[in-house]
Amino acid sequence: MESLTVAMAKGRIANQAIKLLETAGILFSDFDEKSRKLIFTDEERSVKLIFVKAVDVPTYVELGAADIGVIGKDVMLEDPKDVYELLDLGIGKCKLSVAGFPGENLVNSSQLTVASKYPSLAKMHFNQKGIRTEIIKLNGSVELAPLIGMADVIVDIVETGATLKENGLVVLETIAEVSARLIVNKASFAIKTERIQNFIADVKTGLEVYS
Ligand code: PRP
Repeated sequence: MESLTVAMAKGRIANQAIKLLETAGILFSDFDEKSRKLIFTDEERSVKLIFVKAVDVPTYVELGAADIGVIGKDVMLEDPKDVYELLDLGIGKCKLSVAGFPGENLVNSSQLTVASKYPSLAKMHFNQKGIRTEIIKLNGSVELAPLIGMADVIVDIVETGATLKENGLVVLETIAEVSARLIVNKASFAIKTERIQNFIADVKTGLEVYS
């Protein structure tokens, strides 16, 4: 059987995605979410799972270091790569949102300072609304920025809403619905078409059982 390499980011999506793959019959018996190991293998199905940083998943797939990737739509929107996006896995659902203090009036704003892990998306969103922005790119704990007066609002993903709530912030606008997607390297798809189609068919079957 031709081998397949799947790139995934550790964390919330990975735990759900691995359960989904198990339902599809792809088993990484030595997987342990607490482990620092970066490669796990299903020998029987010739599937290798590699763990990389979330924002790097599309790069591994675009360059062919991985045939397949599991990644949030938010990452793909912020930094589009030349890959096929073939399946919405329906897991890791969250909303890309503008958030800030309750009552913040975006409609009358002509200029905003925006903190975000998604500088391109944030810029594009406010440009479309005719609002000038200064974008501050942060890599985490974005909710802190309005609290310390560094930004007026943030653009970030909201899943349960707990982080916003615990920091006295609210969703002001939803920009996009986000979920995990299965992406595929273009050359791999041309060379290993049947193998990848079968893998996707198995995942789709897993999805029916999983959901
Ligand atoms: C993400 C996101 C929010 C939080 C939203 O951060 O950037 O901060 O999760 O989730 P919630 O709505 O369920 O509270 P992450 O946990 O990846 O940590 P980070 O701040 O270090 O990026």
